[in-house]
Amino acid sequence: MRVVILGSGRGSNAEAILKAQKENRLGRAEVVQIFADRPDAGLLELGARFGVPAHFLDPAPYKSKLDGAAEQAYIAAITACRPDLVVLAGFMRVLKMPFIAAFERRIINLHPSLLPSFPGLDGIGQAFRRGVKVTGCTVHYVTLEVDGGPIIDQAAVRIEETDTLESLTAKVHAAEHHLLPTVIARLSERWTPGE
Ligand code: GAR
Repeated sequence: MRVVILGSGRGSNAEAILKAQKENRLGRAEVVQIFADRPDAGLLELGARFGVPAHFLDPAPYKSKLDGAAEQAYIAAITACRPDLVVLAGFMRVLKMPFIAAFERRIINLHPSLLPSFPGLDGIGQAFRRGVKVTGCTVHYVTLEVDGGPIIDQAAVRIEETDTLESLTAKVHAAEHHLLPTVIARLSERWTPGE
């Protein structure tokens, strides 16, 4: 199962996926390409470390979405990788048609809250400020509804009295680093070529 990772930031989740692959914990999945929408994304350094091609794809001119020529360039570059699964690992742009249609039911997203609670930006901060006692992370299929597609799996994280935003952030990230590779491995076991 050919996997393309899209991200915008540090890439700690992409790193967790690549580590799982190296340790044979990614089932039949193989990461074939990493793309970032920022030239300074830490994510891009993972390519050399793990022997996977990693490239910046220019998303200009918009800040929080992909549109027009940039969207077409993303679709073309990803299509050329012949992906069976497109993994959004901290990709901070809203996707819409025709991107979603191009990879229908093959795009999954990681979100740092227990959806449907706290969609959108800063899922960890939203949960912390609201004072909930349990939050976590979600992997779901990407549809037109932002953070609203079918949920594949979730992991819960307890918020203790002593937690700060920093300690909670670390706990949610640790949960993500376990959940996302596990979901990809499980999807790969169910995947049939040509699907
Ligand atoms: C992760 O916490 C992920 O859940 C979040 O961005 C972070 C990326 O970290 N994604 C979203 O908020 C999407 N709306 P990373 O670059 O270290 O993997």
